[in-house]
Order: sequence, then structure tokens, then C-alpha cells
Amino acid sequence: MSHLNTESVIGVIGAGTMGAGIAQVAAKAGHPVLLFDAMDGAAQRGLDGIAKGLSRLVTKGKMSQDDVDALTGRIQVINSLQDMAPAALVVEAIVERLDIKQQVFGDLEEICGENTILASNTSSISLTAIGAKLKRPQNLVGMHFFNPAPIMKLVEVISGLDTDPAVADAIYQLSANWGKKPVHAKSTPGFIVNRVARPFYAEGMRVVQEGGADFATMDALLKQCGGFRMGPFELMDLIGHDVNYAVTSSVFEAYYYDQRFLPSLIQLELVNAGHLGRKSGKGFYNYAEGAENPAPKTADEATTPRQVTVEGDLGVAEPLVALIEQAGIEVNRTEGNGSISVGPATLMLSNGQFTTARAAATGNRNLIQFDLALDYNNAARIALAPADQAEQTAIDAATGLFQAIGKAVTLLDDIPGMAVMRTVSMLANEGFDAVNQGVCSEDSVDIAMQGGVNYPRGPIEWANAIGLSNVLTVLDNLAATYGEDRYRASPLLRRKVAGGA
Ligand code: NAI
Repeated sequence: MSHLNTESVIGVIGAGTMGAGIAQVAAKAGHPVLLFDAMDGAAQRGLDGIAKGLSRLVTKGKMSQDDVDALTGRIQVINSLQDMAPAALVVEAIVERLDIKQQVFGDLEEICGENTILASNTSSISLTAIGAKLKRPQNLVGMHFFNPAPIMKLVEVISGLDTDPAVADAIYQLSANWGKKPVHAKSTPGFIVNRVARPFYAEGMRVVQEGGADFATMDALLKQCGGFRMGPFELMDLIGHDVNYAVTSSVFEAYYYDQRFLPSLIQLELVNAGHLGRKSGKGFYNYAEGAENPAPKTADEATTPRQVTVEGDLGVAEPLVALIEQAGIEVNRTEGNGSISVGPATLMLSNGQFTTARAAATGNRNLIQFDLALDYNNAARIALAPADQAEQTAIDAATGLFQAIGKAVTLLDDIPGMAVMRTVSMLANEGFDAVNQGVCSEDSVDIAMQGGVNYPRGPIEWANAIGLSNVLTVLDNLAATYGEDRYRASPLLRRKVAGGA
């Protein structure tokens, strides 16, 4: 099955957003490409769109006109599916409907050779189900690109129950040859990215629904502290709430209503209202010209403290110590359980409990939890969640400390797991669960989330940096606080921690 090389003819069916992008990727890699669309003129429009997009690269000096001409010259529009006969690989990117995909692949089996690999770009349909109607289901594989296909690096190579491993390997190798970052995954609802990414949206909406923070504050925290390129709310506005809600609902249903994937009523309201995001002019944010949008909540300036005591090792938050010293604040270090004392306040990294409960349990009313950062050195913002019983002087001291090291401070209501910590813990948990269920490897989770949705760090690598036992503690505390199955820790995570990870 390693018969695919740059001379191999690549067929693309469906010349819409994804098909045109995939045709461009294949032609860029040097393949002759056949492009077909059922709608009259659509394949030619797809090709024209490719040429137009590439002409912008010529204007920017990133590609020569000769190269553009050569690339588009390798794409041939065909007007009949029969003309797909010479293809060594056909990638399908048509409407997301099982019956229609089965029909098209059934036709292709008759038209193409026995060794032709048939690939689907489906985001949500089981490859096993598509293959069930085929004579040669072993030749069918998922080749799931991300939008825009020429730019996004990830390709999820999906194996259905009957997919020949050699076919999946050939597509993996081909994707790598095309400059992509492929990962193997088993055909399961949401594959890797659309499954593991669910908590990114869901946890943000939970916090907002519970009044812990408003959406603009959550976006600011996930970006400026969590290092994500976009916050969950602006990203949902970009994707479209109808699309994002449909993906969540389909994964929820496909996993037999596992509470882990429960959709959000906040998002349903937006869908019901027709507030679909950027495309309708309004979602969480208002995109009308001159519209005012909320700014993230930022604490007023507080006094810089003169000295702090750091008790024990701060773990993933240890870089704070050097930052505090660099700010000219005296740091005393003692033994202890990983906390910073400043004035009357005690600061600890969120462990998924209410700060109020943790304060009560430790007999320290002035406990304030702070959030996880991707990189404490470069984070522009940090969230603090004071216990309900904390005194104002303690809150001011904590605020002044973080402001002194250059952070904008957001005072969150007492939300278990805060913003970044709960989101990253849940992302990693979902990643571990996918691995536990044999969907993919740990490395594939990280490659997929970085290459498919631009996460700043793979969730599993990130969880290892936080300490798996800390992540497990956060999840167990969330589960205990909420009493919901949603927060149950993956058995794989629990097993690793039990094994000393
Ligand atoms: P699109 O609506 O932009 O394009 C689909 C094209 O397929 C249209 O031009 C349509 O005329 C054509 N088509 C429909 N039925 C056909 C048939 N029976 N034979 C030949 N052509 C037919 O759709 P888009 O967004 O490109 O999605 C295509 C596929 O890619 C879907 O399976 C979708 O789930 C998947 N996908 C979409 C992503 C996205 O972000 N839009 C990302 C990854 C996968």
C-alpha cells in the first residue's frame, strides 16, 4: 500500500471549503489532482478560489506566479465521477451525510481500481458505518483535515473496524510527505480533536453560567494566563454557535449521553435566538460597528508588599519566586506545603476546591487561590479567588503582590478550579480517557490539539508539568464539589498516579 508517490493521481470529491483546500495541498505536493463536485460549476469555482487565494501569496512575495500557475495547472476539473478512474487515492469532502457518502464511495469502488484508497474527510461520521456498505471496506480510511486545510497542520488518520492498517499507514505517510502532522486514531465519536476540545468550551460556559466570571474575563484569562490563542467565547463566536452546539450535541449523543459531554444551555439560548456569532453579527460579543463589548474585569491598583514568605515548593508555580525577587520584594523561604504568605493572605495554587472550603479545612480564613498559568513569566494576567471569609486587607495584599510582578489581576468569584486550571485539567482528563479507550496514543493527543486547534501546549504534556497527582486532585475535588459524573477522573490518570507518576 506504500504505492503512493508524487506521480499518484489524487481525486478530490466536493470542491467546497475543505475539498478545495485539500486539492490545493495535494497539488502543492506535486500530485496531479482531479477535482469533482456534483453541483454544476462548483469544481471550477473551487479551482478559481484556489488561484485567487494563492495570488494573495504572490502579492505578499511568498510565492512566485510561476509556482502558482504550476500548482493550479496540476488540478484538473472533471465533470463526471467516471473520470476518477485513474486516481490512486480519492479524498471525499462532500455533505456530511452517511447515506450520501456511502453512495459516493459505492460508486467509486466500481469506477476505480482495486488498490485505490478511498478516504473521507468526515468530522463526525463513523468510518466503520461508511465502510459497512462497501465491497472493500479495508480500503476506506478517514483523512480528517482541519480548516483551512492548506494552513492547519493536523491530519487525523482514522481507522474504521475494517480499515487495513497498511492503508492507514500509507495515508499517514502521505500526509507527512505533504508537510502535515498526521496522527492515527480509531473511529470513535469526535475522533481526537472534536472530543478532547469539548471541555475548552464547556468549562468556560460553566464558569459563566455559575456567575464566576463574565465571558470577556474568561477569554482574557484563557489567553493572557492560559496562553491560548483565542478564548473559548470568541472562538465559539468564530466557529458559529449552531456548528459548535451541533458538534457538542452529536458527541454527547454518540457517547450515550455521557455527562462529560453535556451541552450548555447558555449556548442553546444563543442558537435559539439566532445569535450565531460573527456570521450573524452577534454571539457572546456584538460585532455591529461601534458596538460596545465588555472589558475583562481587572482589579484596581493595590500597594506593593515589602516581603513574602514562600513555604515549601510551589511546583509548577515556582517561577513566581524569581519574579517576586526581581520585583524587589524580599522572599523568605521556609518548609511547608507550597504556599506564599503575604501580609495576612496565604496564596495557594488552585486544587479544584472552593477556596472557601479549603480555607475552612485549613483554619486559614485569609486563603486565596491563584490560577494555573501556561508560563508564569510571560502571563500578562492572573486570577485570584479569595475565600468568602477573607478580609479585604488580605485580598489587597495578594492583588498588590501579583501587580508588582507585572500581572493584571482578575478577582474571580470563588469558582472551584478557577479558569485555566479547571479547563486544562479537563482537557488532559479527556485526552487520558481517549488513550485509555484505545483511540490514540498520548503523543497523538498532544500533536492533535496543537496542530488541529493551536493549543499552546499538548494537554497531556501540560498535565505532566502540573503533576499528574495535582491534576487528579483538581478533578476529584471538582467531582466532589459538583457531585457530577462530568468531572470523574479517567481511570488511566488514576492508575498513573497510583503508580507514582
Ligand atoms: P461545503 O458545503 O463547503 O462543500 C461541500 C461540497 O460538496 C459542495 O460544493 C457540494 O456541492 C459538494 N457535494 C455535495 N454532495 C455531493 C456529492 N454527492 N457528490 C459530489 N459533490 C457533492 O462543505 P465543507 O465544509 O467543505 O465540508 C465537507 C466535508 O468536510 C464534510 O464531511 C465536513 O464534515 C468535513 N469537514 C469540514 C470542516 C469545516 O471546517 N468546514 C473541517 C473538517 C471536515
